Order: sequence, then structure tokens, then C-alpha cells
Amino acid sequence: MHAIGVDIGGTKIAAGVVDDEGTIVAQTRRDTAPDDAASIDRAIADVYAELSASYQISAIGLAAAGFVAADRSGVLFAPNIAWRDYPLRDNVAALIEDKVTIVVENDANAAGWAEFRFGAAQDVDDMLTLTVGTGLGGAIVSNGELVRGAWGVASEIGHMRVVPGGHYCGCGHEGCWEQYTSGRALVRDAQAAAHTQKDRAGRILELAGGSVDAITGPHVTQAAGEGDPLAVELLSELGRWLGEGAASATALLDPALIVVGGGVAAAGDLLLAPARKAFSDQLSGRGHRPEATFVVAAMGNDAGMVGAADLARL
Ligand code: BGC
Ligand code: NA
Ligand code: ZN
Repeated sequence: MHAIGVDIGGTKIAAGVVDDEGTIVAQTRRDTAPDDAASIDRAIADVYAELSASYQISAIGLAAAGFVAADRSGVLFAPNIAWRDYPLRDNVAALIEDKVTIVVENDANAAGWAEFRFGAAQDVDDMLTLTVGTGLGGAIVSNGELVRGAWGVASEIGHMRVVPGGHYCGCGHEGCWEQYTSGRALVRDAQAAAHTQKDRAGRILELAGGSVDAITGPHVTQAAGEGDPLAVELLSELGRWLGEGAASATALLDPALIVVGGGVAAAGDLLLAPARKAFSDQLSGRGHRPEATFVVAAMGNDAGMVGAADLARL
């Protein structure tokens, strides 16, 4: 049976027709505005119309970057998208003529589930996935089951406080882990460095066409890949925060595997090597306990779509 998985990001949605084996057989995308929730509803209905013209669809899974209600009908709250008690399922259903099951799922849960079912975490029963994208998302699989919590919003790990009085977060608090380990954090720090360390920021600025405001995460990753010292340092700092936070999370969860996904994971070892080191340095009981392995997600950008489609079918 085919299901559609839709990954809803801040600025675009990506949708795919996914088969039972987790293979994407067709896909499409649309640009959206994070501050215009209705535009996201319409874009979802639109990709459904496009994809369902060629495939018979049993269910739609919507991977949403926010706090998803336990009944998976909508989003209670989202730090980076204009959703507040938002009935996403019913809004989309009203724009679709067919009777098709629609399920909303947290984006990181969807990505982590895809890794567990079809990707890097197929061989373990206990794992933590961290998605380092615009925000920092989490997915916990414990004893073979996705952990949802009492009200559906477990694994909002990006909002654990790591720095009292630290950077302001879209969730309304300060010092959240997401403000130190995310694409946004990387861009913020790169832009700051472009002002304060002008002599070292040449390559990053060049990639951004000379404008500090135009610097993106991929610019930093590209520069770091070329060996640019500032870019390497920025990613390594992000990796340090990633590893330290993962060590704290491990105190709680004891995962066998930590899967790192999201756009920033494209940096590979530039991010993961410092993360592994910080993780080891901070792990309590080190030397007297087995240690989780850190790996890059295997499903890349497809994980959210594949996981959402799979969870919608369950
Ligand atoms: C949101 C999560 C989401 C994560 C990754 C966080 O800011 O609170 O719901 O999973 O970003 O998109
Ligand atoms: Na999650
Ligand atoms: Zn927060």
C-alpha cells in the first residue's frame, strides 16, 4: 500500500509517495511561509492532489516541527512555525475531497522512526535520534517503541535548558539546547564571527555573496569542507554542544545508538568528531559502562517523509 509522507519545514514542504519497504516512489515540494499556517494547509492539499493523481493513497502522514497532540490530530505549539492549538489534520481534510486517513506526527519522531525501521538504527531496540536542522528535534525509541509521553510531547529535547540565562529561544525560554545545536545557532554564530573576526570570515562571506545577512548553514559547511579554519571551528563548537547534550540525554535514556540527522548532519565528521569527543568527556561512569555509538542518519533528507508515511499506516 502507498502512503504519502509530508515533511513540513519552516520554508518548504517536501512530500513523497512511500511504499511498504520505505522506498519513495515519487516526490514533490512547495515553498511555504512559516508565519502563514493556512498557506501550509493549502500546500499540503496541493501536493496530495498532485501525487494522488498517479497513485492510490491509503494514508497521509504529516511530519510537523512542533509539539504534536497525543491523538495526532494537530499541533499544540510550535517554536518556529505559527501553530498554536492548530487543528492541522481537520484543516487539511477540509481541503481534500477523498476520504483518506491523515495523521500528524512530530517531525523528529518521524525521522527517527524511519531510521529505526529502514535506516541506521534497524539493529537496535534503544536509540536516540537528534535532528539538527532549523531547530533541534529528538526521537526516542525505547525497547522497540517510540516514546510519546503522557500527552504526545515527549522527546522535545531541544528545549532542555543547557545554559541558564543563555540565548533566547522561540519557545519563550532562555538557554535551550536548540539555541546551541541547530542550523539557526550555526548561522547566528557565523554571522557574529563575520562581524567580530572579519579577517577570518573571508571564505564564508565570499560564499554568501559578500553579505553577512545572507550567510547560511550550507555556506559554513562548504567552507569547512574546504578546510576554512573559522568554519571548521564553528562546526566543531556546534559538535561540542551536540556531544555534551547527548551525554546528559544518555544519563536519562541509555541508548545503544545516537543517530544524528537534519540538514547540519551533512557536515559529517566535521560535526560528529567533536561531538563524539565531548560525549566521551561528559559521559558519567565512563570506562565502567558500554557507550552508545554516534552515527550520521542513513536516510538523509528523506527520513521525515518516509517515517511520517510509515507511522500513518500503523
Ligand atoms: C520543535 C520540535 C521539532 C524540532 C525539530 C523544535 O524546535 O520544538 O517539535 O521536532 O524543533 O524541527
Ligand atoms: Na520528537
Ligand atoms: Zn526552547
